[in-house]
Amino acid sequence: MQKNINVGLIGAGTVGSGVYKVLKKNFSEIYKKTGKKIIIFALAEKDINRAKEIAGDEVIILEDAFDLVSHKDIHIVVELIGGIGISKDLVVEAIKNKKHVVTANKALIAIHGEELVMLANKHNVNLAYEAAVAGGIPIIKSVREGLAGNKIEWIVGILNGTTNYILTEMKENNLAFDVALKQAQELGFAEADPTFDIEGVDAAHKITILASIAFGIPINYEATHVEGISSLDQKDIIYAEELGYKIKLLGITKHNNDSVELRVHPTLIPEKRLVANVDGPMNAVLVQGNMVGPTLYYGAGAGSDPTASAVVADIIDLSRNLESNNTTLIPILGFTSNEIKAKKILSIEDINSEFYLRLSMNNESGVLAKITQVFAQHSISIDAMVQKEIQEDDKVVDIILVTSIMIEKDVNKIINEIEALPETKNKVVKLRIEQLNR
Ligand code: HSE
Repeated sequence: MQKNINVGLIGAGTVGSGVYKVLKKNFSEIYKKTGKKIIIFALAEKDINRAKEIAGDEVIILEDAFDLVSHKDIHIVVELIGGIGISKDLVVEAIKNKKHVVTANKALIAIHGEELVMLANKHNVNLAYEAAVAGGIPIIKSVREGLAGNKIEWIVGILNGTTNYILTEMKENNLAFDVALKQAQELGFAEADPTFDIEGVDAAHKITILASIAFGIPINYEATHVEGISSLDQKDIIYAEELGYKIKLLGITKHNNDSVELRVHPTLIPEKRLVANVDGPMNAVLVQGNMVGPTLYYGAGAGSDPTASAVVADIIDLSRNLESNNTTLIPILGFTSNEIKAKKILSIEDINSEFYLRLSMNNESGVLAKITQVFAQHSISIDAMVQKEIQEDDKVVDIILVTSIMIEKDVNKIINEIEALPETKNKVVKLRIEQLNR
């Protein structure tokens, strides 16, 4: 029986140091669960001093990660450097060298996942990526294995800790966007390039991966509609609250007949939903299966220890199966490879949703009548309408409308007509609403 599992770790950053810590701190716990001694055999890190600080002298430290991925004594390669440049070359080399690979790299899986999964299948090795989606929450395992008996209907998730932290701080503590972002960076949630967080790219990587394992479609990041929170106005957070909603940056994917919705954007959700109360850097994923109904997964979606927890779970899974050579029993994307079929990804213009619209209008008589006339001409009903107090210059008012469910291209036509009215002062703000009850 193979008692020692030699792990080669690439990257001693936030997650890398966490993995070292988890394996060390929980060594005997993990031994009791696997019957194996899982050790970091080698660590590849450009910053040798940092590597020594983390790993001490017991571990082989390599400056060149390509020496690690080809090392004959390493069973599992763990890629934790992120990005899609050198990390991809390293993962490819590791797979070609018949190493099982664990990665926390959502960008890599979202953008090059198809190619890497094919390569892994060809070389009969596993590619494990639990930590790539929602950090410490075991959502890949839950969808791919725990809910395998279901047809998944939709998944909605708060998948980015940084933006959830920012939105929470903006609402609860009245913090400016920039201040909250800086705090998130200091707390270690944010990506190296925080635009990936605030522009929705990170959440889009994650929902793209979830859509693939939920619906048996190829990983298709390019088709994902992505909007972030950088242009969100604090006043919309307040107005939404007055209407009984909270604004969250959601990753949303739905399977409708033969098409799939795949989108990330700030979204109004009823404040009474559990997921609306997921605050700070926490993540939550709501998965609707056709048999189980709605299921909700909550936990830390970022940070060193929680993300390391997911990486180590993957290492343990692989270790358990190494000697029986059963490491590839569960298809990497949940569906057998010949059953992964492309489906039409709906353009954002073709989705159906309720909408929150904020209009900035001259405070003149007859304005409301003009607005409702535009809606009536399109046979669209308005579910709620609130006129806010007069703004600073006494002449402009905010008018908030909530529409019934309508196709987005129709709401865009209405917005164009409203923006063409002489009484309209600014661009109309449009946000989508999800009731999360069907
Ligand atoms: N920057 C990410 C977040 C880290 O804020 O959620 C985890 O992927």
